[in-house]
Amino acid sequence: MSELKRERWGSQWAFVLVAGGAAAGLGNIWKFPYVAAENGGGAFVLVYLVCILAVGLPVLMAEFVLGRVANKNNLDGIRDIVKASDAAPAWVGIGWMGMAALLVVLSIYSVVGGWALAYFFGALSDLIFPNVNSVSEPGASFAQLTSNPMKSLGWYTLFMVSTIAIVAGGVSKGIQRVSLVLMPMLLLLLAILIVFGAVTTDKMQEALSFLLFPDFHKLSAAAVLEALGHAFFTLSVGVGAMIAFGSYLPARVNLMKASLAVVGLDTLVALLASLAIFPVMLANGIASDTGPGLVFVTLPIAFQQMPWGQVLGILFFLLLSCAALTSSPSMLEPIANSLQEKTTLGRKKGTVLAGGVIWVIGVLQLLSLSGEGIASIAGQPLFELSGYLVSNLMLPAGALLIALFVGWAVPHSLLKSKRGIENPVSFRLWVTCLRYVAPFGILLILLSGL
Ligand code: TRP
Repeated sequence: MSELKRERWGSQWAFVLVAGGAAAGLGNIWKFPYVAAENGGGAFVLVYLVCILAVGLPVLMAEFVLGRVANKNNLDGIRDIVKASDAAPAWVGIGWMGMAALLVVLSIYSVVGGWALAYFFGALSDLIFPNVNSVSEPGASFAQLTSNPMKSLGWYTLFMVSTIAIVAGGVSKGIQRVSLVLMPMLLLLLAILIVFGAVTTDKMQEALSFLLFPDFHKLSAAAVLEALGHAFFTLSVGVGAMIAFGSYLPARVNLMKASLAVVGLDTLVALLASLAIFPVMLANGIASDTGPGLVFVTLPIAFQQMPWGQVLGILFFLLLSCAALTSSPSMLEPIANSLQEKTTLGRKKGTVLAGGVIWVIGVLQLLSLSGEGIASIAGQPLFELSGYLVSNLMLPAGALLIALFVGWAVPHSLLKSKRGIENPVSFRLWVTCLRYVAPFGILLILLSGL
C-alpha cells in the first residue's frame, strides 16, 4: 500500500469539518427538529444524546479505524483486513452491502437536496414567496414540486451534478475545499437565523426550555427507537462512508479527539437548527407534531407571515442546501474511490459513472412520487420503500456488522497498528460498546422495524 500516493486531509481541523460536514445534513436540519418536537423536546434530546454516545460514536470510531488501517478503497480495504484478521471470508460483505446501501441513500438524499435547492432559488427569485397573502401557497407549491417529476427533475439533477463535481475534484481539492467553505457558512447562517428568531419573536426562552427541559411523560418506547435509528443516519455510519473518510486520515490526527469533535459538531448543528426553527414554530402557532412537512410546508407558511420572513426563508433554504451538499459527497466517495482503484477509469470518469448510475435510480425515485403508480411496488412508491429500507434495515444492519466485525473478529493488535484509540481505558470502553452495547441497541431497532 503506498502511503505516498493516497490523498490525505490537510489537518485535524480540516478532517473534523469534512467529517462533521458529512454528518451534519438534512438529518440534522430537516429531521431532528420535527422528531424532537413530536417527542416532547428535552426528554427526547437526552435519550438521543445517550444513543449517540453509547452506540453512534463507537461505530463511527470503528469506521474511522477500519479506514485508517485499510488505507485504500472500501472493497479492497475490508478484504485486506478480513484476511489479516483470519476472519470468515463472508465479512467482506460489509463493503459490498455498504455500496448497495449508498446507491439507495444517495438517490433519495439527492431528491430532497434538489427540493432544498428549488426552495432556495425559488425564495431568491420570489416565486415561492410572492407577496400574496395566501397561506396555502407554499404547501401547494410543495405538492406541485413532489408530484410533478418534471418540476423536480432539474433541481434534482443540479444537486446530483454538484455532488459529482465535488467528488470528481478529489479529496483535498474537491470534498475538503467545499466543506471548508460551506461548514463555516452553515454555522454562520445558523447563528444569524437564531438571532433573527430571538429578535423578531419573543419565543426564544420558550424554545430553549422546550429543547432542554425533559418531560419524560411524552417519551414513548417508539421515541427511544427513533432516537437510536436517527443516531446512525445523523452520524452517517453503517454503510462505509466514514470508512472511506477514515482512509484519508493523516498520521497526526488523534482519532479519539477527532471523533468526539465530529459528534459534537453534528449534535451542535442539530440543536442549533432546533433553536432556529422552534421560535418560528411557536410564534406562528405551528403544532409540534407537523412531522416531515415542517421544513418544506409549514415553515414557509410561517416565514410568509413574519416580518423579514422573505429574507429568513432565503437564508434558511441556503442553510439546508449547504448542509445537504456537504453530506452527499460522503455517499458518492466510497463508490467513486472503489471504481477509481479497481478499474482503469480514473477518478473523474469513475465518479461520473457512479453518479450517473445513481442519477438514474433517483429519476425512478422521482417518478414514484408522481402518484401514478410508476416505479411502485405493491402500490408503495419506491421513494417511501427506499426510505423505510434504509433507516429500518440497511443502516442498522450495516452498523451491526461493523460493530461485531471490529469488536469480535479483528485482533486488537491490528486495530492498534496505525494510530488508533490510544488511551487504554477508552480502548476498553470502545470495544465493550462494540461488543455488547451497540449490538443490543441495534438488534432492538432491527426487530422492531420488522
Ligand atoms: N448524516 C447525514 C445527515 O444527517 C446524511 C448522510 C451522509 C448519511 N452520509 C451518509 C446517511 C451515509 C447514511 C449514510 O443528513
